[in-house]
Amino acid sequence: MKDKELIFLAKKAAEKAYVPYSGYTVGAALLTKDGKVYSGCNIENAAYGPTNCAERTAFFKAVSEGERDFEAIAVVGGKALDFKDYFTPCGVCRQVMAEFCDESFRVLIGKNGEDYLSLTLGEILPYTFSSEKLK
Ligand code: THU
Repeated sequence: MKDKELIFLAKKAAEKAYVPYSGYTVGAALLTKDGKVYSGCNIENAAYGPTNCAERTAFFKAVSEGERDFEAIAVVGGKALDFKDYFTPCGVCRQVMAEFCDESFRVLIGKNGEDYLSLTLGEILPYTFSSEKLK
């Protein structure tokens, strides 16, 4: 799958965002190594704390279906589906990515139009705390 197709799927996923409190819509599209895509949106809650980010929604959907091997994730975010700035995943989502992916995992950051950033998990989460440390 091409990067731009995965970013398009992240934008489609953001349309499902449940964001009555922030109005900030986030979409993610997670590509497995065998070419399947799991999408996710952010899901807010009146108690705020239970809110789930779009990236974790995508990961938890995939992992709960038995997936373990991931190639890339595309993400977009902005108020009311206006992706005017590059949006970067929060620290908790980066840590969840690190549970299942190595430093070469690709994180594609889209915005309005065609431009996007292609980063790696190693770049956005250096000095990672991972299961290696627990051995
Ligand atoms: N959010 C995400 O979905 N992903 C992130 O990586 C950062 C933040 C969501 C949570 C909340 O619904 C909204 O964006 C504003 O913080």
